Amino acid sequence: LGAEQSSAPGVTRHFVVVCSRATASGDFLLDDVPGTSGRLDVGLRCIRAALLVSHGLRRDAVVYLVLRGGPRAPRVLRVTGRDARFIRPDERSLAVLAQKALAGSDDQTPGFVDVKPGVAVARGDVEQVLAHLGSATPYILERGAPDIRDAEGLGKGDVAFVLGDHIGLDEATRSQVTASGARPLGVGPVAVHAEDAIAVVSNELDRRE
Ligand SMILES: C[S@@+](CC[C@H](N)C(=O)[O-])C[C@H]1O[C@@H](n2cnc3c(N)ncnc32)[C@H](O)[C@@H]1O
Repeated sequence: LGAEQSSAPGVTRHFVVVCSRATASGDFLLDDVPGTSGRLDVGLRCIRAALLVSHGLRRDAVVYLVLRGGPRAPRVLRVTGRDARFIRPDERSLAVLAQKALAGSDDQTPGFVDVKPGVAVARGDVEQVLAHLGSATPYILERGAPDIRDAEGLGKGDVAFVLGDHIGLDEATRSQVTASGARPLGVGPVAVHAEDAIAVVSNELDRRE
């Protein structure tokens, strides 16, 4: 995918998906990702929703999968639209990308370790991500929270959205993220899939540009 999509110059959208049981190692079957990876497929669809548009890659988006399953957990897989190459929309290709990245990087080096352009892995949990968000305004996505349509100032600077997977955010993580200053935002009255919540947020930000 060669075309590029960007929001206002210098504005970055971060999406942090807490994958409660998804494997932090490359030890899963490509032919059965949902059944062998602790539902890493949910996170893979979030990568697609955050980074890919029709015939293009969002250069202004960064997605983090916080992987809490398996013996190498916790680890974070980060895909940065600005630097990524050859990100394909189908789930199998994304699973291959994740598998190679998770199998290839070591756990000794602190912080994010680049495994290929735009793809990095770090040892650590959500605190590892929060430490890398810089000046981005943090939000936590949850059903029933104040509507994103009414959020004043949203999209004028860097933003970060934390969301759960199919299980949802556990209370300890919610408290941790809220303590970092994140305010809750909702995308409507219905609990949607995580990747759909990302799509709605992306659409809202697109409309505000
Ligand atoms: C499939 S939902 C989680 C469902 C889980 N059973 C629960 O009740 O929390 C996945 C994530 O998408 C986000 N999400 C889903 N619907 C939302 C909504 N209407 N507004 C804001 N965020 C939402 C939340 O971050 C949620 O943790």
